[in-house]
Amino acid sequence: MTSKKSRTERRFRGVIMPTGSHPDIRRVKRQGDYPSIHGNKLWKSSCLIIDYLNRHRPEHVESVIDVGCGWGASGIWCAKKLGAEVTSMDADPAVFPFLNVAAHLNNVTTTPLVSRFEKLTTRQLRQYDMLIAADICFWDELVDPVYKMVNRAVKAGVKHILIADPERPTFHEMAARCASKHCAELVEWETRSPIKARGAIMIIENA
Ligand SMILES: C[S@@+](CC[C@H](N)C(=O)[O-])C[C@H]1O[C@@H](n2cnc3c(N)ncnc32)[C@H](O)[C@@H]1O
Repeated sequence: MTSKKSRTERRFRGVIMPTGSHPDIRRVKRQGDYPSIHGNKLWKSSCLIIDYLNRHRPEHVESVIDVGCGWGASGIWCAKKLGAEVTSMDADPAVFPFLNVAAHLNNVTTTPLVSRFEKLTTRQLRQYDMLIAADICFWDELVDPVYKMVNRAVKAGVKHILIADPERPTFHEMAARCASKHCAELVEWETRSPIKARGAIMIIENA
């Protein structure tokens, strides 16, 4: 039998994520402002990022930006487990009340930033040691903005850049361009328990 808690919360590598039926999530939904660019749940590519970082813990990572954060799982994991200062960035302001519920469940806070990939400047990106993203390259028109944001992150000296995806063709197109320009590596990744997820992570170690 599934307990009430297991229906309202999921745990993954030490991070607690609310489900759509968590009472606090239901309260936010009742307020009526609903995410409109797919930031409406925990996407499983977040688990790929979390699991990868859990196995390959980067050293000296003090500041992280989670771009296209949605409900913010990967950034929340970085705040909780790496003790990093995390900026959670999304174009859709409606994701942040949901992210706040998740952050509160994990006793962490992250700094919200409403912005678009194409608006993040090299100067802004200079303040981060790591850029993470999960499932952000899902439309043809996102390939170019995501690729150019990666270019600016490399130029800004962001040391670690990780973008996970369930391997949509648009992600592969962006990753191939980053492989040519920055020797980005593509790592196939899979998690089995307690959440099954499968896909690839594009990684740039910008030493
Ligand atoms: C598929 S969801 C993934 C959310 C989260 N990363 C996760 O794994 O649960 C994609 C997210 O990207 C955001 N997004 C889409 N286009 C964007 C843009 N141009 N700039 C910033 N964020 C964007 C959406 O609002 C949404 O929250």
